[in-house]
Amino acid sequence: MSRFPAPTLTRRAFLASAAATTAAMLPLSTALPGIATREISLRAAQGRVRLVPHGETAAWLYNDSVPGPEIRLRQGDRLRVAVDNALPAETTIHWHGVRVPNAMDGVPHLTQKPIGSGESFVYEFEAVDAGTFWYHPHQRSFEQVARGLYGPLIIEEREPVRVDRDVTWMLGDWRLTKSGALSEDFGNRHDIQHNGRVGNTVTINGRVPGDFAVRRGERIRLRLINAANARIFSLDFAGHEPIVIALDGQPVTPHAPDRGLVTLGPAMRVDLIIDMKGSAGSRATVTDRFYRGLEFGLVDLVYDATPFRDRAPDWPLALPANPIPEPDLRTASRNEVVFNGGMMGEMVAQEMGESMGATGGMMDHGNMMAGGMMQMASAGPAWFINGVAADEASHAMKPILTLAKDRSHVIAMTNATAWHHPIHLHGHSFRVISRNGQPTRHREWQDTVLFSPREKVEIAFVADNPGDWMFHCHVLEHQAGGMMAVFRVA
Ligand code: C2O
Ligand code: CU
Repeated sequence: MSRFPAPTLTRRAFLASAAATTAAMLPLSTALPGIATREISLRAAQGRVRLVPHGETAAWLYNDSVPGPEIRLRQGDRLRVAVDNALPAETTIHWHGVRVPNAMDGVPHLTQKPIGSGESFVYEFEAVDAGTFWYHPHQRSFEQVARGLYGPLIIEEREPVRVDRDVTWMLGDWRLTKSGALSEDFGNRHDIQHNGRVGNTVTINGRVPGDFAVRRGERIRLRLINAANARIFSLDFAGHEPIVIALDGQPVTPHAPDRGLVTLGPAMRVDLIIDMKGSAGSRATVTDRFYRGLEFGLVDLVYDATPFRDRAPDWPLALPANPIPEPDLRTASRNEVVFNGGMMGEMVAQEMGESMGATGGMMDHGNMMAGGMMQMASAGPAWFINGVAADEASHAMKPILTLAKDRSHVIAMTNATAWHHPIHLHGHSFRVISRNGQPTRHREWQDTVLFSPREKVEIAFVADNPGDWMFHCHVLEHQAGGMMAVFRVA
């Protein structure tokens, strides 16, 4: 049985219909036990934000802020979002990682008509899984996300793990000019063919972070969301030994990350438990170490002079599982997917240096349009999935795979390129079962899996959510350059 039936009555609709028909006067408590509907309005419009301490930047915003409002609701509740598009462009909203019915997935032309300028649209779905998710446009996302349209969506467990504070850090990455304006070179060929639009200004929750106040002995659940177009983060918490409890919103066996570094490709989320074990009055710098030679201090953890408690608490760390069907590898279909394209081979080292050099002045908000940035290359599509490059403008495309509904499927993927790619599937979470032929330790559930250059990754899942689903790279310039496809579940 699919978990994704046609929309059911909401409590309000139920009340209305119950009032209209006395015959339908069932006690609410048995009809819809404990289900609430969370109603939110999101208005997408142009505005100004203070990303950097010295001055404002013209951006595109949800409810006049970046990130947009943090939407929180409890697992099992329904979310209804009324979207008003006051932008000078069409848009949609995609609920990244949430297993929604296809018509609510927010993909222009594939699952809905784009929301025109001055128009509105209502999204509504049940929060089937608890976890850390986010929302963003799927219309020209390489431009609209880069302009500031994104926000966190937190679905709370009915019984969450115990912590002292639950904190969301939404990581953003902006390419600003000397004067602090957004660089308008969205989707340029160089970014498309290399590592995407890596910016020069990293923000947490829409501000270049200064200090983050903590107290010795407190336990924090830190929800990291990477909303950057292209930047990959590898965060070093300066000896704090964070424990990973969820990846892409889905619970995982609590574990210390490899080499102590918390790595997130674009669109990925990591939930951490961090015990603040520094001494009262001290300070520690969280450092991003992903790009060798370009490490930078992201934010300082600044300890209050008075401790919160003497020793870290010994509360349990594991989250309750979400209701995802378990794939059966013995009966699963096997499907091959190969990613090709981009600048290749020898050129890469040189080009990498060049394009990275442009971001080297990260925290120096001047100096960004370095020489190589605008280098023009041949036109035409840059990236291919099974030999086909998609056309960004029309998300409606022929499926490359048709997956039998309610059956298990393995997708064996090969990154035949010299670049990293965070590959995202809509409508489902999948288990990452192997990397380069080696079984993964945690068989983690993800909705976005980060590939290293030349890496092979196998994923497995039950295709229980019918419809046409996007499958694409979340380096948004790669997506724009053809790196997307459709899987049909039928
Ligand atoms: Cu976060 Cu297809 O998207
Ligand atoms: Cu990519």
